[in-house]
Amino acid sequence: MKICVTGGLGYIGSHTVLELCKAGHDVVIIDNLSNAHISVHATLEQMTCKTLPFFSHDVRDKEKLEAIFKTHAFDGIIHFAGFKAVGESVKEPLAYYQNNVISTLTLCEVAAAYGVNRFVFSSSATVYGDQKSPLEETAPLLETTNPYGETKAMQERILSDIQHAQPPMMVALLRYFNPVGADPSGLIGEDPKGIPNNLMPFIAKVAAGKRPKLSVFGNDYPTPDGTGVRDYIHVSDLARGHVLALEKLWAGTHAINLGTGRGTSVLELVEAFERVNGVKVPYVIEGRRPGDVAVSFAGVHKAFDVLGFQTKKTIDDMVKDSWRYAQKNVA
Ligand code: NAD
Ligand code: UFG
Repeated sequence: MKICVTGGLGYIGSHTVLELCKAGHDVVIIDNLSNAHISVHATLEQMTCKTLPFFSHDVRDKEKLEAIFKTHAFDGIIHFAGFKAVGESVKEPLAYYQNNVISTLTLCEVAAAYGVNRFVFSSSATVYGDQKSPLEETAPLLETTNPYGETKAMQERILSDIQHAQPPMMVALLRYFNPVGADPSGLIGEDPKGIPNNLMPFIAKVAAGKRPKLSVFGNDYPTPDGTGVRDYIHVSDLARGHVLALEKLWAGTHAINLGTGRGTSVLELVEAFERVNGVKVPYVIEGRRPGDVAVSFAGVHKAFDVLGFQTKKTIDDMVKDSWRYAQKNVA
């Protein structure tokens, strides 16, 4: 298939481009470089030994988008483009609604005009809000805890409504849990600008001596060691999930969790990082981070039943690959 990948030079997008090429698909990338380095394009071409047409356009620019769809007869779309920082979304909600929601609306308009019916969307476990794990796709989406999460819930509803009105459309709403790790080559990965918000990149910075210590946000949660429990999924497994969703999609709108179904606490992740990589990660216990839930992990039966998706990588793989990439790239 020929696939349009928006946000294809970003963290999850770049790993998915790799998996799509491995599976024999052709890829066209659209990414406005608001959170990606142009060098990732050359790296991906080198890794895949393929020419990957790339457009540095904003997905909200309908004219430019139409020009791309006119030239390339796409069989499907994977839509990663968007902003994703929870804290920033609280400070700049307008930018988040504007970018995330308008990108999806524009893309849907152009997709409909050019008859592209296969649509895979990057959603997030954050749409579940604070509900009991394992989080199943049947759980009601009651309320989100920040504007970023709200944009994801909105985009899910928009896509579902559009699909309802256009029955040949096939939509996968992939709800990611906590993506971490990097391609084992160490050539692509995640290098957040400034001080990382997320746990794994922060651990890597501390291990590399770029930050003095990790702040563990709370050790009084109702979990075995008191620290927050999350479902970390290796980004290469996550990327493979996109290829399966794309290939197996059928008519309708389908919300599907992509996680491992297993929870790991903050201190367990720190312990694994130290043990596997032979480094020290000094930490200090601090108060809870506002908005955090105690436990979040995926119900994974649907992904297995409808896509045959199962993760292959362990927590040890995740910390090893994160560290390999960080050593080469993290400033
Ligand atoms: P990322 O920031 O690395 O990738 C997003 C890419 O989209 C970037 O390369 C950016 O330059 C591009 N982009 C943003 N707005 C654009 C626009 N209007 N037009 C064209 N390009 C645009 O983020 P990521 O971690 O790879 O996340 C990809 C998607 O997955 C996002 O939609 C994100 O919300 C979602 N998601 C991420 C996580 C996570 O923890 N990383 C969890 C759940 C969901
Ligand atoms: N944590 C720390 N110290 C840190 C950073 C995080 O103790 O410096 C803890 C958090 O309190 C939490 C766990 O590590 O218990 C994981 O936190 P992350 O910030 O890495 O991830 P979140 O689960 O908060 O959120 C992530 C993404 C969201 C996404 C969600 C579900 O940031 O965008 O996963 O997909 F919605």
